[in-house]
Amino acid sequence: MTDFAGKHGLVVGVANKRSIAWAIAQATARRGARLAITYQGRFEEHVHELSQGLEHPPLILPCDVSSDAEIDAVFARIDQEFGGLDFVVHGAAFAPREELSAPFSNTTRDGFRMALDISAYSLIALTRGALPLMERRGGGSVVTLSYLGSERVFPNYNVMGVAKAALEATVRYLAADVGQKNVRVNAVSAGPIKTLAAAGISGFSSILSVYRDRAPLRRNVDAAEVAEAAAFLLSDAGKAITGEVLMVDAGFHATGM
Ligand SMILES: NC(=O)c1ccc[n+]([C@@H]2O[C@H](COP(=O)([O-])OP(=O)(O)OC[C@H]3O[C@@H](n4cnc5c(N)ncnc54)[C@H](O)[C@@H]3O)[C@@H](O)[C@H]2O)c1
Repeated sequence: MTDFAGKHGLVVGVANKRSIAWAIAQATARRGARLAITYQGRFEEHVHELSQGLEHPPLILPCDVSSDAEIDAVFARIDQEFGGLDFVVHGAAFAPREELSAPFSNTTRDGFRMALDISAYSLIALTRGALPLMERRGGGSVVTLSYLGSERVFPNYNVMGVAKAALEATVRYLAADVGQKNVRVNAVSAGPIKTLAAAGISGFSSILSVYRDRAPLRRNVDAAEVAEAAAFLLSDAGKAITGEVLMVDAGFHATGM
């Protein structure tokens, strides 16, 4: 049921081999998907190198998700090359480093705008771009990546928590909007994983150790485990699921203390 043979997907958010989006690219490509993978400027070389390890050579395109023109160009190329699209992985997030250590009440207008634009609005822009291509395939599936900081306070997560709350609300509103076209929109809320984005959060290693101590499974999760859950939602196995935030965090979200 999680077969991706003959399916085409767009993966946004690969920076390096630790990126959760890269793990999802591998999980879907291994099951037969042909991918378009985008990179943000400075990661071009990494993405080209990584992609050599995929079964089917991906289409590699630049995309800064804060640019409508770049997003349009991505879908125009995908239309040319694939003629349609079955799934989108949204793994882009950003907040200026100083917003992830200062007291939350010091959040700047610019930092707030940037975090919400790149980490939440971009899901709307990408879903809108994908929609006509997915309609041609009779439907599609969009998965984004969130974190429990959307609902609970974690030290220094700050404006990213607000962006993740907006992202999860966006998942529900998009799901309601595009459901009649058989397009599904879901989030995977991952436990903490050491990636480039995580390195920007002051004291991130203490979050990892609290999860290890308190999660019901008494361990952290890895990107491959998150990718398996994302592949499920992207595939026909998840075809009745939309508007959902699936927790993949070794059960940490369920605990009180
Ligand atoms: N690592 C964790 O602990 C964790 C936990 C839960 C959720 N997440 C989420 O997973 C997603 C992927 O993050 P990751 O941890 O794999 O880190 P990562 O640094 O590998 O990925 C973040 C990606 O966002 C991209 N990005 C940032 N600004 C962009 C822009 N303007 N245009 C295009 N792309 C842009 C970066 O290029 C990078 O590829 C993020 O949404 C993150 O919030 C991470």
